[in-house]
Amino acid sequence: MTTGRDAHHPAGVRLAGTGMAVPPNRVTNEQLAERIDTSDEWISQRTGIKQRYIADDGTSERDLARDAVQQALKNADIEPGQLDMLICATMTSEMCCPSTAARVVSEIGAVPAGAVDISAACSGFVYGLNMASSLIESGHYRTVAVVGTETLSEILDWDDRRTCVLFGDGAGAVVLTADDQPDRGCLYQSMASRGDLWKELYVPRCESDIAEGAAFSGKLGTLQMNGREVYKYAVTTLLKAVEDALAARDLSASDLAMIVPHQSNRRILESAADKLGLRPEQLYINIDRYGNTSAASVPICLHELMEARCLKRGDLVLFVGLGGGMTWASSLWRL
Ligand code: ACO
Repeated sequence: MTTGRDAHHPAGVRLAGTGMAVPPNRVTNEQLAERIDTSDEWISQRTGIKQRYIADDGTSERDLARDAVQQALKNADIEPGQLDMLICATMTSEMCCPSTAARVVSEIGAVPAGAVDISAACSGFVYGLNMASSLIESGHYRTVAVVGTETLSEILDWDDRRTCVLFGDGAGAVVLTADDQPDRGCLYQSMASRGDLWKELYVPRCESDIAEGAAFSGKLGTLQMNGREVYKYAVTTLLKAVEDALAARDLSASDLAMIVPHQSNRRILESAADKLGLRPEQLYINIDRYGNTSAASVPICLHELMEARCLKRGDLVLFVGLGGGMTWASSLWRL
């Protein structure tokens, strides 16, 4: 829903409420090892993943998104009718048209709120968070929700052990509102891409999408990845994203209450934490329980942190997303 620009709009932005949803079907590494040639030991040691949730045929990313957004609105104590806009980050939308966002807005009773899907793979939620805070800062919108939602299990080649063990399904959401405390909100944001590296992580639709030198398991329509290159990209990019955000606001790593990174791989996260000299409690990791849920991973982390009351008013929190495209984004907040 568009609004006229409020000349007296509050200057701050608040993360008012969070929510998350995962499908009920929990799949452990041991259960995967019964179906494919892998082991709990290999997956745990290489990635830190112990289990993930996998949607059944009747559950779509729209269902997960709807549940997560509804919970976020409830936790924010905001009625669906107050929502001005929903931004939905996903790479597994049900249809090309309509957007998942439009149907979720309708299903939660928020019509005629604006609705748009964005595609930035695992960086999608942090892209959406930056866009949402900027929309509110503009004074044209007061309340914007962002959801990251994925049923990656639909686009995995379950015969390719190099990729299928890494991912899980889920959704996480946050509701942002204008706030009259001008010191709270997004202090710094970045959104970036390296499209020249696209073939390191891609989903080919037809033979002509398979570039020379790109990984290909043999199944079109499934996620293909050059794991070693993505690993190197993720370690260096995560580090750079954090250092750039700190430098832009003249902060040091010790000033941050928490870094909430995309959950790609425990080794990637621990390597960055080590180089940045972070205390263990400054970097949130839950990949052991969900696997890599792409656009959903950062908001699921945020929801868990909020539920556990680990974050408080005034804390500095840095969100970082990294993913296919290749893309990355960061968003530094004072809560
Ligand atoms: N179970 C058992 N063995 C396996 C499995 C598996 N699931 N997968 C691969 N192997 C084997 C390989 O066949 C290979 O065996 P070989 O030496 O006999 O040929 C051996 O394990 C080593 O394979 P590598 O691919 O070299 O393993 P690596 O140490 O690079 O780890 C991994 C692979 C975990 C995918 C790593 O490269 C990685 O984490 N990359 C980053 C991927 C990532 O995070 N992607 C997420 C999407 S993008 C993002 O979120 C930023």
